[in-house]
Amino acid sequence: MTNKTVLIFFFFSFWSLGNAYSQINSIIPGDDGRSWKLSTRSSFYEVWLTKDNEVKFSCYGDKLMKDISYRPLLKDELPTRNARNYAESVIELEFPDGVRNLDLTFESAEILDIDGYQTLAITQKDKLYPLRVTEYISVIYEKDLIEKWITVKNGAKDKRSGNIEIERLMSGSIFLPQNDYDLTHYSGWWGHELQPAVTTLTPGSKIIHVRDFKPYGSSFFAVKPTGEHDGFSGEVWFGTVDYSGNWKVQFEKSSTGELQILGGMNFWDQSVILKKGESFTTPKIILGYTREGLSGASRNIVAYTAERLPQYHRNTVRPVIYNSWFATGFGVTENNQYELAKVAKKMGAELFMLDDGWYQSKGIAMSLGDWTEDKNKFPNGLASLVKKVKQLGMEFGIWVEPESVVTTSELYKMHPDWILGYPNRDSRIDPHRIGREDKYYMLNLAREDVYEYLFDSYCKLLKETDIRYLKWDMNNLLTDVGFPSGTREEQMEVRIKYVENMYRLMEELRKEFPDLWIENCAGGGGRIDMGLMKRTDISWVSDVTDPVVRIFMHYSYLALYPASTMLDLVTDADNHELGLSMGFKFDVAMSGILGVGANILAWNDMQLDIAAKKIAEYKEIRPIVQFGIPYRLISPYETNRSAIQYVSQDGEKSVLFIYNLSEDPSGSTPEAKQSTIIRIKGLDPNAAYTIEGMDGTFSGKFLMEQGLDYHVRGAYKSRIFKISKK
Ligand code: DGJ
Repeated sequence: MTNKTVLIFFFFSFWSLGNAYSQINSIIPGDDGRSWKLSTRSSFYEVWLTKDNEVKFSCYGDKLMKDISYRPLLKDELPTRNARNYAESVIELEFPDGVRNLDLTFESAEILDIDGYQTLAITQKDKLYPLRVTEYISVIYEKDLIEKWITVKNGAKDKRSGNIEIERLMSGSIFLPQNDYDLTHYSGWWGHELQPAVTTLTPGSKIIHVRDFKPYGSSFFAVKPTGEHDGFSGEVWFGTVDYSGNWKVQFEKSSTGELQILGGMNFWDQSVILKKGESFTTPKIILGYTREGLSGASRNIVAYTAERLPQYHRNTVRPVIYNSWFATGFGVTENNQYELAKVAKKMGAELFMLDDGWYQSKGIAMSLGDWTEDKNKFPNGLASLVKKVKQLGMEFGIWVEPESVVTTSELYKMHPDWILGYPNRDSRIDPHRIGREDKYYMLNLAREDVYEYLFDSYCKLLKETDIRYLKWDMNNLLTDVGFPSGTREEQMEVRIKYVENMYRLMEELRKEFPDLWIENCAGGGGRIDMGLMKRTDISWVSDVTDPVVRIFMHYSYLALYPASTMLDLVTDADNHELGLSMGFKFDVAMSGILGVGANILAWNDMQLDIAAKKIAEYKEIRPIVQFGIPYRLISPYETNRSAIQYVSQDGEKSVLFIYNLSEDPSGSTPEAKQSTIIRIKGLDPNAAYTIEGMDGTFSGKFLMEQGLDYHVRGAYKSRIFKISKK
């Protein structure tokens, strides 16, 4: 590798891509050329040079700061490992002679246009060694966001100069003034995806991170001054790391009360060697500031993400999916899938998803790695089933797990050295998985031959079967990343190269099949993040389809990601044996991308009829749900209800979902004493609105300030309000 600039993380383009906001002067250099003021719609960021040419972070917060000169903080814009630094370092490295600190000084600054956004690029150099560090800050004006990333270059010209070893390189850092702060973030594990956690930050360090590629949570964070919030107002600093490998976000509170936030790749068990002339670029960290509380933070990050989903299907209405996993498990056959497809079509499903179990198997052991159909199950070939399903008038999707392999596969027999693992150690993961061969490994996707094998296999599969939807699963964890035949450099960089090739595989397959849909799945919602948002169209949120559990997960998910990516399936699951109605199950699944996963061959006519009606109702509202502005109104984490509202981008229509999770006798508990009036958001106060099923008209002002009495009585009852401008 001659140049380690990881271009895959983003595309530089030094010309405008037609973004109207690039015309706004969102970066203004000071008259003396020694400061830069960066503005978004309502936030302000400033960088200064001291008289000694040190690059300093001056402030990040409300736009009002722009007009005053008082600055409570002056910190290194890029803290490094050196004697004067009391902050956590963004960069830590070792020079060839063993020197491990840095002494950076300003070299140059320029304002670039990158992807249509004004971007400040500040280059610093080490006072002694040929090291250059360029920090980029892009201003996403209309979303109140900035993006930060860093390129480090070994600028040695002398042939005898040695390598620089990067031991830590985050994407950027910010500082908040002295105060008490609360952090909200989302963690999780299998079946418990995206659980919100709130903690007060005390002096010391709080770290959220992932080390096995599969967080089930998120790098998203929101930090707010303690106790000043109602969810819809108040200052919030927030952000997320644009990376699908191991990431890390650190909150470092000093004893004097200031807070540093820094994030990027997690350099746990990895380093990067820079040879002469080589450079390395980090993924981005996206940062935001708002005065509209957590709700404002969510709306900004969700809108930003929605604009970065893969372009081809970005604005395409998502299909109603039928997925057979919960009905037939590994026991798929041409016949049972076709029978399911016929009923699914009658109900109104638009895409049939054949899940795990379709490819080669040896007994109960599925041959992960050999991506051709099992002829015992599909005697006429997979292509024939696909054709028949398409003739019914449905698209066809298929499950794959590209990154895994089992030792009984032909692939493993031919290439036992393609797995990740250490010699003399057992690097199997999850050896007791039901239905799997117990020698279950991750492929070493950092290898070019592995990348090529996967690319060729899927090109062949998609071409021969005419399938255009992949459910891309990853059930494994990436832990023991041994690469015995690799150089030390390759071994230490294996995770970085792995992610690069995973992104590349998705991107190259899309180039080959531009209309391809990719569903992101990782044993449920194991790795939903900004990096995969940019490369997949739909996310499988969790293997738990119990609607009560899903109400909670959806509420979290919609704080971070667009509803147009949130897939739910109505299944037969009713894990708490609450006797949940079909209507309730559908109402829950309809708040994102609706799918059905139940054994519909066992459903009676009445059930099929309800399903058909609900699917038809969903098709009416889905453009507003999938592409509207989301407002999370009542949190199930705080009350026994949940309410989510979407407003169409033109403000003409809105859909409100209300779920009642339990109902205690009136006045008996604090929750039963709460009002059932809900204040709706995002309407035009001066316009008149009608609500389907309700008499009269309501002014926008009334609905937003006085509110709507939502009449949802009884536990596990739900209602969908459809609101239209008159
Ligand atoms: C885990 C996924 O989350 C499920 O939906 C299903 O696809 C299984 N893997 C299949 O192995």
